[in-house]
Amino acid sequence: MAIAMTTGYSAQTEGALLCIEAASDWALTCVDHLAAQSSHLLIDYGAADGGTAVGLWNQVLDRLHAHQPNAHLTLIGNDLPSNDNVALAENLALQIPRPPQPTVLVSARSFYEPSVAPNSVSFGFSATAMHWLSASPGPLNNHIHVLASGNAEALQRFQAQAMQDWNRILELRSRELQLGGRLLTVNLSRDDAGRYLGHNGGQTRHVLDQLHLIWRDLAEDGLISEEQYRNGTVLNFYKSPEEFMAPLKDETSAAYRNGLRLVDERTVYVPCPYRQRWNNNGDTASFAAALMATIRSWSRHSFASAAGDAAADMVFARLQQRIAEAPSEWSLDYVEHHQMMEKVA
Ligand SMILES: C[S@@+](CC[C@H](N)C(=O)[O-])C[C@H]1O[C@@H](n2cnc3c(N)ncnc32)[C@H](O)[C@@H]1O
Repeated sequence: MAIAMTTGYSAQTEGALLCIEAASDWALTCVDHLAAQSSHLLIDYGAADGGTAVGLWNQVLDRLHAHQPNAHLTLIGNDLPSNDNVALAENLALQIPRPPQPTVLVSARSFYEPSVAPNSVSFGFSATAMHWLSASPGPLNNHIHVLASGNAEALQRFQAQAMQDWNRILELRSRELQLGGRLLTVNLSRDDAGRYLGHNGGQTRHVLDQLHLIWRDLAEDGLISEEQYRNGTVLNFYKSPEEFMAPLKDETSAAYRNGLRLVDERTVYVPCPYRQRWNNNGDTASFAAALMATIRSWSRHSFASAAGDAAADMVFARLQQRIAEAPSEWSLDYVEHHQMMEKVA
């Protein structure tokens, strides 16, 4: 299945940028551990337009160059063919002037496929991308997101798909990594208290429930059909820390057998930057527009593919209005799982 971010991704996703910044310490740790060699291949899986990671790759390239001044560095930005890969190429090219003038490339393929040669990657990185499922696990008839649906049967199906996908992703990455190579994944997750993106335990409104209420209203108002309502499903899954670690604890998993091991993991919370700004300036119109845009960046495709662009536009007009009417009840807080891995055999 193909998903698509809205265009102008980086401009609309300050939260994702903060999530990447929160992982930069571990990214530097990963490259600090790389053995000296004549060249290194670095790859950013699911990079979108690459804008949110420019600062991270500045730091990583500089650090690796400082440690290994004679090594040639190649940075690949990966995303789907449907992504704005021209913008990605332009953001990657911002790295070229800095020593040692790295080679930059775009890989317009799914991360559910092999990206590069076996045993070639020194450092693989991915932020806020590997929650998208590779295929629909079947219908979700009562909500737009399985984790908020209370639908135990659907939850099982989505979880099974998510685990199959995660095993597949780690199997592919474990083949691509070279011995001693490291992989750092920074993923939207579900913490031990069941919180995840847009669900902060009741401090503010549950964003996925709000999207569902709006979607349901469109059906009640006769603006979308019941079938379109049922098809409006966000096909992603926020895994728990145990689910993320499972393939690395299971000695029979393909990734484990390929030598991939867990080095460290942690859960990181990134508060909504738009809400924080509103706390300081009280500018409700800007807050409503910006928060709506960041939610739209990842969810619009799910509504547009079910019922067309006009229906999706109505969702976000209504969303912006709801935020503007009760700004203190809104925030989009991130729960992210960081997992550092190394190929040891
Ligand atoms: C929320 S954006 C994250 C972008 C960037 N890594 C960041 O953290 O700001 C998620 C990205 O994952 C990409 N993506 C989703 N499924 C993918 C797949 N199967 N293969 C490659 N990229 C994928 C989307 O196209 C999108 O650009």
